[in-house]
Amino acid sequence: MTMDWGMANRMAQLIRPDGRCIFMPIDHGYFLGPTHNLEEPGKTIEPLFPYADAVFATRGVVRSCLDPASAKPIILRVSGGTSTVGADLANEGITTAIEDALRLNVAALGISLFIGTEYERQSLLNLGKLVDAGEKYGIPVMAVTAVGKELDKRDSRYLALACRIAAELGARVVKTYWCDDGFDKVVAGCPVPVVMAGGPQADTELEVLEFVHDGIQNGAIGINLGRNVWQSEHPVPMMRALDHIIHGNGSVQEAQEVFETAKAGDAMLSPVSV
Ligand code: 5RP
Repeated sequence: MTMDWGMANRMAQLIRPDGRCIFMPIDHGYFLGPTHNLEEPGKTIEPLFPYADAVFATRGVVRSCLDPASAKPIILRVSGGTSTVGADLANEGITTAIEDALRLNVAALGISLFIGTEYERQSLLNLGKLVDAGEKYGIPVMAVTAVGKELDKRDSRYLALACRIAAELGARVVKTYWCDDGFDKVVAGCPVPVVMAGGPQADTELEVLEFVHDGIQNGAIGINLGRNVWQSEHPVPMMRALDHIIHGNGSVQEAQEVFETAKAGDAMLSPVSV
């Protein structure tokens, strides 16, 4: 696929020369409100910033919490209009004009798709419109394959369907969930790069390292992992361990060692309460 210079430049900001990426999502407040450990997004992101290749956030958080002098690429969350106390999370619209994305000098736009829900058509047409606007100015769109309540987000047939449709409608990157059976087929059926989300916090850090490693082995180019990093008791060691898998091509065991070593370092640096 040929790309205009601006589009190619933005994609190069998002994906490192090794072909991999670590996106750090802090967009959850757009429907969850001040969720645990993201009450102050600027504080949450500060120690994690060096390990992220890009940050996924809404315009409100970009303007109020991120330093404009930073060169870190922004993926701007531009879908929303719902909340956990409202009627249906799938009933999203586009919340942000393309002009505002340009003003913010973002590297990409992000939008959720709700395939298999009552609002499937609406969210897919939103994607189409967003891609039209983004392509006009050389801004790639990352499609987020969100799931409705009744759908199984770990079903590879569903994920393959959703990822493929997102790519067909013009997404340049697709964010989806890892699944333990058939994730290779999800990636193979999607003609654009796939990154993995985490979902709610897993029981152990090891579980996260294992699924990220497996996803990378099966063709994902990186992660867009939020709660399993910043809701962990050890967010920086977690980022270091994930970086070891993604940019360091490390094994799960090595990543676990990186995690434990960084954790021990953290403990030495942290003030000790007596
Ligand atoms: C929620 C999102 C997040 O960017 C995405 O779900 C990744 O975060 P997590 O790893 O916490 O699921 O789209 O709005």
